[in-house]
Amino acid sequence: MTNFSTIYKLSLVAVICFIEACSSSLVLECWFVQDKAGRGGGLTGATSQEKSLLHIQADAHGLSSESRPAPSDINPDRVYFITDPAATLRHRSLNPPRGSIQKPRCEINPFLPQPSTLKWVAALTDSALSPVYLQADWFSTTFQGLNKQLGISTITRAPTGSKEHDVILSVTTKTVSVQSRLGEPVLLDCGFWANPSSPLSGSGFAVEWRYQFRGHGRLVLAYDGKTDRMADAQEEGAMLDFQALHEKGNASLTLPEAKVRHSGTYICTVFLPYLLVQVAVELEIVEPPSLSIHPSPLPLVAPGQTLTVQCEASGFAPLSLELSWEFKGADGKSRTLGSGSATGHRQAWDSTYSQSTRLEIDTSKLDLGRGGEVTCVAVHSGGTRRASTTLSVIGFSTPSVEDSMAMVGVALVLYGLIKFVSWTFTSSGSDEADKPDKKEK
Ligand SMILES: *[C@@H]1O[C@H](CO)[C@@H](O)[C@H](O)[C@H]1NC(C)=O
Repeated sequence: MTNFSTIYKLSLVAVICFIEACSSSLVLECWFVQDKAGRGGGLTGATSQEKSLLHIQADAHGLSSESRPAPSDINPDRVYFITDPAATLRHRSLNPPRGSIQKPRCEINPFLPQPSTLKWVAALTDSALSPVYLQADWFSTTFQGLNKQLGISTITRAPTGSKEHDVILSVTTKTVSVQSRLGEPVLLDCGFWANPSSPLSGSGFAVEWRYQFRGHGRLVLAYDGKTDRMADAQEEGAMLDFQALHEKGNASLTLPEAKVRHSGTYICTVFLPYLLVQVAVELEIVEPPSLSIHPSPLPLVAPGQTLTVQCEASGFAPLSLELSWEFKGADGKSRTLGSGSATGHRQAWDSTYSQSTRLEIDTSKLDLGRGGEVTCVAVHSGGTRRASTTLSVIGFSTPSVEDSMAMVGVALVLYGLIKFVSWTFTSSGSDEADKPDKKEK
């Protein structure tokens, strides 16, 4: 029954491939990297690097080395033919259009199968398997897609001396780099496929997630799929979906609530007896700051006075932050007031950062008119945040044009009034003085 379904799946894959016209194999350039055995005596990290070429196809038919001449800059001994029944490597991100300059990244290393001593893996090699199967050429290959989100690692096997490899185990992540806000659930994708035709599949697997940051590492979670046992989970809340793991090879890790200390590299390792493959996922927790301005509201200022405003940015991660000030006058025009004087950063209990900046507003140097809006601007990788407050200047040091016009108007009216009054008085006075004169006449 299982054989039947496997055959069915394989033929389905073959049919799909045929429909998608994938009868031509995928060709990938790859770096063949191995330790310089015997040379460089004791020099650590001495490796040799050679260009190599991979022809990848879903089924072994049509893979013939004679029909495909190797490019002149590649040693014909470094041309390999890989059968990938699950078509894991047939991903758009590994298939750049012809002539594109960007190429997916690929590296091959020789691999030595060996039993693992890890507590949650050891059970896999309890019953020793035929060493004949292990005596072969084994390669470990890592691929990184053009979209920077796809990472695949495979273990392939070829009979000794042959260059026709079969994928035995592959591990894929579709989330090579993940960003999350604080407090949100995080999914770190990881899935594996084990070649059912290999004697190493079907006798159990194990999964391990490790965390690494700046040279420190720790175990997040480990699961022995053979005995269905969890090793001590060291990260509270970290979860695997065991049903999806056993049914579909879905080894994705879920962190229920992102915290700043979760930022770092997560390595998903899948073990079969004698084999292991890993992919890395980068997690960054990015949280923009919350801003507050003090004092708020701002006190009224008179012209010539100096006012100090402070802006506090808190709860942000990662550390890098740019704080500055802006002023928007009554005329609606904005201008910058500079960055003020920033304080050093502090780290809170939840590892988020806070930082503040202080601005001295000298109304005798800045032409702020009647006032306007003072805004604190924080530029952060998680987004730009702003906080504003109103600044009111009372009284005016220099009268405006309207004020001058009004003053001239008032002066004219006053002048007219005085003139009128004095004229009325002098004229009426002379009238009364005239009357007796008239009477006397
Ligand atoms: C794997 O499982 C996670 C939940 O643990 C789910 O969100 C994700 O979609 C699954 N991936 C696939 C390819 O099924």
